[in-house]
Amino acid sequence: MALAYRERYGEDPAGCWRAPGRVNLIGEHTDYTGGLVLPLAIDHACYVAAGPAPGTRTTVGTLWGGDDGPPPPVSFEAGHIVPGDLTGWAAYVAGVVWALRERLGDVPGPPALNLLIDSEVPVGAGLSSSAALECAVAVAVTALVRDVDPEGPARDLTPLDLALVAKRCENDFVGAPTGYMDQLASMLGRPGHLLYLDTRSLTWEHVPFDPAAGGLQLLVIDTRAPHALVDGEYAVRRATCEQATRMLGVGALRDIGVADLVGVLARLPQEMMRRRVRHVVTENERVRAVVALLRAQGDLRALGPLLNASHDSLRDDFEVTVPHLDVAVDAARSAGAVGARMTGGGFGGSVIALVDADRSEAVATAVREAFAGRGFAPPAVFPVSPGAGAGRLS
Ligand code: GLA
Repeated sequence: MALAYRERYGEDPAGCWRAPGRVNLIGEHTDYTGGLVLPLAIDHACYVAAGPAPGTRTTVGTLWGGDDGPPPPVSFEAGHIVPGDLTGWAAYVAGVVWALRERLGDVPGPPALNLLIDSEVPVGAGLSSSAALECAVAVAVTALVRDVDPEGPARDLTPLDLALVAKRCENDFVGAPTGYMDQLASMLGRPGHLLYLDTRSLTWEHVPFDPAAGGLQLLVIDTRAPHALVDGEYAVRRATCEQATRMLGVGALRDIGVADLVGVLARLPQEMMRRRVRHVVTENERVRAVVALLRAQGDLRALGPLLNASHDSLRDDFEVTVPHLDVAVDAARSAGAVGARMTGGGFGGSVIALVDADRSEAVATAVREAFAGRGFAPPAVFPVSPGAGAGRLS
């Protein structure tokens, strides 16, 4: 990164930073209703080399791109950028600069920056490539602001603050109404641990998770089905949950216990809304059950039924799966996976499968064959393990 930066900008960067993508083990579509989630930061990360630049324009270049190679660099006035000024990939960078300015006020920072970005997190795979980009930019730019003004307000920004800056970018600059999980997982991930996050109190606990110790592996199956959160369905799910919360007069859907579910659902007017709420309530319960199992340090194979039930609920009650996801899950289960479910927002993206390590090739083959049989493009299958959250590389 440093070398490519030097070639492009003619001097060494002030530093290089990274932030990972994430996989969610369980707790899906609960993070915008005050619920519980259990993600892990993965080894695939986004990288940012950055330094101060002459003049007033911040320039962002990338080393990654699609088949046509990297897109051309984009530049903007860091001191004046506001939502609506930029769209596309550069909005995830400019939006963080904007959100940081909103958070800090007009503090002295470098008036202009040069940034160079690369990423290993596949775009559109439901692995939070956007949160990885936002968090990598947030840690990089904050470090440069601190360099200029070591005693200023940037000094006291915590990893949680930076995750919230990144989330603000996603919600208010890019315009995707996502919840808390992705940016907090990217900032707060810890090797060998899951992040057990309460999205109402914004408190968390790192829970040890070591599938390899039990002879298991966590596989990601990137279905390569197209997915887009900015398109309406995600926002519709969120709006339905918010409407149900108001109708039921509860502070958050997580206040409803499974024992009360039948009575609560009877108070909702539509069948569709009842199913959405049932998903959220049962999913929070499944997260609690998974955490209880992990704390008890029993056989991780006991997680299988909970992972499976999560997928089935997302398919039948929340209706966010698509054929690619269901086919991958069914094929993985038939080939002997301990449990398999979609991960992330749905409507495409990835599946996770917890498998016996010696079955992992058989599961991958079964999914590839099932995809070929349905005429789907081949999926990408790879193992993941919990990695570190965002930070400085050099
Ligand atoms: C997307 C969003 C997250 C979360 C998941 C579903 O990944 O960005 O905030 O809502 O969907 O759990």
